Amino acid sequence: MKFFIDTANLEQIKEAQDLGILDGVTTNPSLMAKEGISGKDAILNHYKTICEIVDGDISAEVLSTTYEEMIKEGDELAAIHPNIVVKIPMIKDGIKALKYFSNKGIKTNCTLIFSAGQALLAAKAGANYVSPFLGRLDDISVDGMNLIEEIRIIFDNYMFDTEILAASIRSPMHIINCAKIGADVITSPLDSILNLLNHPLTDKGLAQFVADAKKMG
Ligand code: G3P
Repeated sequence: MKFFIDTANLEQIKEAQDLGILDGVTTNPSLMAKEGISGKDAILNHYKTICEIVDGDISAEVLSTTYEEMIKEGDELAAIHPNIVVKIPMIKDGIKALKYFSNKGIKTNCTLIFSAGQALLAAKAGANYVSPFLGRLDDISVDGMNLIEEIRIIFDNYMFDTEILAASIRSPMHIINCAKIGADVITSPLDSILNLLNHPLTDKGLAQFVADAKKMG
């Protein structure tokens, strides 16, 4: 199971990278805006910096929504670094753009997936990753984890190479349940990854070991 971090914050990316468990990074326009990144040059430079920190797939999302604009933008993003994965929204023109990049050998991540049918279409168009948004489904009282299960069954039935990249992760339980179902990748904020570390019995046990170690001189 691959671990990606879902942020454009360089400090958090470095912290996750230093842990030694990071396989990649995902960003989106909201996460880039949160870091105050604006303007084409600043955006391209920011992605270049992320690629220099992490040696893994780095999803960079197009800002446009028409086929012609998305392929122009995606070609520019892909030219930044070989690890760039062009992130394309799940819309009709997006499907065409996925096919265009697939034919060119440029990796893609189809984002804003909220149904199994959308994931199937993206896989058919040659997407390398589909990003179902778990947390946003849970937010509207729909079981996001059920969507991961449906996509897993469909992709396994037909041996699609497309990887399930579980996104909109809000808690360590999301990560654990994704691992149980067999999502290929989770992309998560740093705090949910770090919360996997925590258990009160670990803290209690370590305190005892440290205290006993002192007795041993
Ligand atoms: O990057 C896409 C996705 O992970 C966004 O998550 O928390 O904004 O629903 P969230």
